[in-house]
Amino acid sequence: TEIYTLSLHDALPIYDLPVRAAMPDPLVTDDGKTITTPEQWQQRREQMKQIIEHYAIGHAPPPPGNVTGHERQSKMLTNGVSYRLIHLTFGPGEKLGFDISIFLPAETKGIKAPFPVIVQPSFSAISENPPPPVTNAIAAGTNSAPAKRPPAYHTVITPEAAAKQYTQALNRGYAVVTFYYQDCGADGRDFRPTGFFPAYPGYDWADLAAWAWGMSRCVDYLERQNFADKSKFIAVGHSRLGKAVLVAGAFDERFALCAPAGSGCGGTGAYRFNGQGRGGREGLEDIAKNFPQWTIPRLAEFSGQVEKLPFDQHWLIDLVAPRVFIAPDGLNDTSASVNALVQSYLAAKPAYALLGVPDHLGINFRPGKHMLVPEDWTAILDFSDQQLRKLDVKRRFDQLPPAETPP
Ligand code: GCU
Repeated sequence: TEIYTLSLHDALPIYDLPVRAAMPDPLVTDDGKTITTPEQWQQRREQMKQIIEHYAIGHAPPPPGNVTGHERQSKMLTNGVSYRLIHLTFGPGEKLGFDISIFLPAETKGIKAPFPVIVQPSFSAISENPPPPVTNAIAAGTNSAPAKRPPAYHTVITPEAAAKQYTQALNRGYAVVTFYYQDCGADGRDFRPTGFFPAYPGYDWADLAAWAWGMSRCVDYLERQNFADKSKFIAVGHSRLGKAVLVAGAFDERFALCAPAGSGCGGTGAYRFNGQGRGGREGLEDIAKNFPQWTIPRLAEFSGQVEKLPFDQHWLIDLVAPRVFIAPDGLNDTSASVNALVQSYLAAKPAYALLGVPDHLGINFRPGKHMLVPEDWTAILDFSDQQLRKLDVKRRFDQLPPAETPP
């Protein structure tokens, strides 16, 4: 059978792009060819990646190929969990690097290395000596000096406190690797001189791609560790870090499972169903204006004309196929629209079906708001046990939520 040769996408300027109210079909190319075989899908996939890089996230540099790890600390925590702090070094002249924290489960009769490994970019840095929590002295009425606030999205917690957050995963035999996301690139308008960016001046990437690239550098290191099951790297992140996890899962095929939680606009929520006049909640116009560091300026040009986007976010979900994908979300999440995720999920289904893995695509809605809660972890781990480890887990991950309720 003939395999279509897909021409590279001629990146059209935005004013030349056709208006498409419907979600652009991943299984139909711009020149009208229908994708019907896994071989054709492989080619289409490359084209889809180029379109997303060109219009939304920019181009990340290739893997640096020189990641090394140096142990800075190692100790046993309670319940037989072991902790290691490793500093990764890589990049041109080995000038880049960041710390990663590794938590390994206790080995018992049922739990033995190699372990599936969760890679999670985090809002918290891990340190033995976190600074005392900042209290608002004015509000407390104890001091007339203005209260000092830590920078946004930066907390410091102990290894013990971090391990507690991973109790379920560790008890179920999963290792967890985590790092502080802004070590890869600052989460602010003035991000260019920070993190990885100065080392790669020729690249137009932005924060979501850089945070995802940091996750891939963790995998570079983990691939050489005996404790890691190389067939079971799992990407987990919440909110803006869910958006980054979606990019990591879409572009780095070493992630066997991709689980962006509460990722909303710029994540699993379709742009066509997010924002003013399109179902509410945060839309492309809002993220372009408030968080220009996440994506490239070209995406902002679609403000007020999202129907011209040649893709939508279901494409990123489909790039994960035939690997495993789940979106765990809250029904009352004021940042992420339930319907925008449902629309992405429904539009992503045909590609998973074409590849013969309809069960590799999952969603899970629970009551509650914008937080990564224990129920989300249970859903991710149950889905992973069911689909990656092939354990007998009787649970469905294809249930659409009851009609969307206003926040
Ligand atoms: C803001 C932002 C969201 C993002 C969230 C978060 O609410 O508008 O897009 O997901 O922060 O990262 O917690």
